Amino acid sequence: MTKISPYGAASLREAAMLIRAGEPVAVPTETVYGLAADATDDRAVAAIFAAKGRPSFNPLIVHVADLAMAQSLAALNPVALLLADRFWPGPLTMILPVRRDSGLSPQIMAGLPTVALRLPAHPAMRALIRESGRPLAAPSANRSGSISPTRAEHVLASLDGRIRMILDEGPTSEGLESTIVAPEDTQIRVLRPGPITTAMLEQAAGLPVIVGAPVGRVEAPGQLESHYAPSKPVRLDALTAAKDEYLIGFGLMPCHANLSPDADLREAAAQLFAALHQADASAAARIAIAPIPSEGLGAAINDRLRRAAA
Ligand code: TXA
Ligand code: MG
Repeated sequence: MTKISPYGAASLREAAMLIRAGEPVAVPTETVYGLAADATDDRAVAAIFAAKGRPSFNPLIVHVADLAMAQSLAALNPVALLLADRFWPGPLTMILPVRRDSGLSPQIMAGLPTVALRLPAHPAMRALIRESGRPLAAPSANRSGSISPTRAEHVLASLDGRIRMILDEGPTSEGLESTIVAPEDTQIRVLRPGPITTAMLEQAAGLPVIVGAPVGRVEAPGQLESHYAPSKPVRLDALTAAKDEYLIGFGLMPCHANLSPDADLREAAAQLFAALHQADASAAARIAIAPIPSEGLGAAINDRLRRAAA
């Protein structure tokens, strides 16, 4: 029922036709596979929520082909323009005041006065936006709350029968969802840590970078405590496996799967969700994960691990 098609000219045309017909299609980005649909079409956007079983209070990220498309949807202040210049195309999402004349389906914003915009680097996603001629709403292509997909097989395992087509272009390079920031006039707030690290943001903007929402406000509603969750209990900071555990290692250590024997954080980020999918599918009753250093990209990895264990 759900078809996996290798990415190419013919499959791209077919995917763009489905998008124009108001259907969601799974497509790779450099972070994770997304479930993309026309962000200006109410029924197409509703179909994303339905396929994922996503709560309607959780707003979606809109993917654009270029800066002009971004500016037709939202207002970019000087800090946003600077970040766009430095990090787009790439794994950075910005929360921006939505324009009155954006034409976006209101479900995208879920009642917020802002919209999340990202200009992705992956050729397949960029080609699909251009070919369909629409801004594309795309959450991660998995059932709501479960592990994000970094390969076409992960999408199939989660959404088989719920969508018509998956464009397959192999494993994604970053492996973690985009960094989400709110660019303010004098500071940058990070709402979801990701591949663009705090240090990279600080260096690019020369502004203070604050991690997390102000107390009492949920700024990225999807940052629910339990998320990216395997179906089995997860134990963090594990150095050895109990008898019933599947141990995911980091650095040289005895384990069932290793995120990076060389203790390289980029490699670990790229491998993380595949390792969790594999551990979930294994015969072991529980999952254990080695400690990961928290500096740099480690902050984003540990954010996902905490939610997987919550
Ligand atoms: O890397 C990514 O960002 C991937 C790929 C497919 O682009 N997409 C992704 O989407 O991770 P999703 O829906 O799984 O996560 C989007 C997050 C959610 O936590 C949502 O609550 C938050 O962005 N979000 C969306 N619009 C927002 C807004 N206006 N204000 C605050 N948070 C927002
Ligand atoms: Mg997600």
